[in-house]
Amino acid sequence: MNFEFNKVAVIGAGTMGSGIALVLAKAGIEVNLNDVKEEYLTRGMEQINKFLKGSVKRGKMTEEEANQIKNRISLGVNLVESTKNIQMVIEAIIEEFEAKERLFTKLDDICEKEVIFATNTSAISINDLAKATNRQELFIGLHFFNPPLLMKLVEVIKGEKTSEETFDRALYLCKKLDKTPVPSNEAPGFIVNRLLWVFLNESYKLIESQIAKKEDIDTAVKLGLNHPMGPFELSDYIGLDIMLEIGDYIANQDGEEYKPASCLIELVKQGKLGRKSGEGFYNYST
Ligand SMILES: NC(=O)c1ccc[n+]([C@@H]2O[C@H](COP(=O)([O-])OP(=O)(O)OC[C@H]3O[C@@H](n4cnc5c(N)ncnc54)[C@H](O)[C@@H]3O)[C@@H](O)[C@H]2O)c1
Repeated sequence: MNFEFNKVAVIGAGTMGSGIALVLAKAGIEVNLNDVKEEYLTRGMEQINKFLKGSVKRGKMTEEEANQIKNRISLGVNLVESTKNIQMVIEAIIEEFEAKERLFTKLDDICEKEVIFATNTSAISINDLAKATNRQELFIGLHFFNPPLLMKLVEVIKGEKTSEETFDRALYLCKKLDKTPVPSNEAPGFIVNRLLWVFLNESYKLIESQIAKKEDIDTAVKLGLNHPMGPFELSDYIGLDIMLEIGDYIANQDGEEYKPASCLIELVKQGKLGRKSGEGFYNYST
């Protein structure tokens, strides 16, 4: 069995998709990065260029190496073109079950039958997504963390029908990408987001019950728990819409005690999504 990956399609060129494309290209793998609109691809590529420029500036790579990495990434809005001659698809579109389900059904029709399907979902059931395809044994969760280039962890989530071979190939890919894979079975939020959600949601409840101010909670967590960011800084960094999706999903699956705090729901309603929108718990416009 050939474990090698020469070409991988990454679907969704947002925060995670563009980062994952960069990680793959840096490891020498050709990448087809796909999104629904050219402008989203341009934005994703800008993100990639920014990382590469920074790396060259800090002496982490030469300009030539940066160009080679960039040249391994092809952009496209046509799913059929983007999935030609690939060994794996990594899906990194919005965290909505129906959108992901629709995409995987389409991919199942157009991809060669041996192509592995991986999803970067933060919390959605791998089993439920796999059911949108006729290749459940080739379906797996590969959960990268933000920013993918810097974060070492990848949770590798096995669905009920994921084959041992698919699992081994996913582990092999993670190692090739210089990541540390941690296996997990299917569960809402897997390992890290399950723990993170409980921690962040409790922080939101602390400000709602006026136990402490957000700035003070952030300071306390950084100094008392040695976390690099406080819970409100981290929420703004991840995106409040993403946190709300994760929280809603875990609460729907596992019960009321996981229900998102009202202040998070209200901020998302107002379009205050964190750093990416200029404001979340904190204001970033100045
Ligand atoms: N942001 C994080 O910290 C983080 C961390 C780990 C995992 N994730 C997960 O990764 C996935 C992507 O998150 P993100 O933060 O990059 O989101 P994002 O909103 O930044 O990007 C999503 C991209 O997907 C594109 N898209 C939507 N539907 C599409 C389709 N049918 N075909 C092609 N492209 C499509 C959008 O245009 C957008 O560019 C989600 O499942 C999320 O839960 C996010």
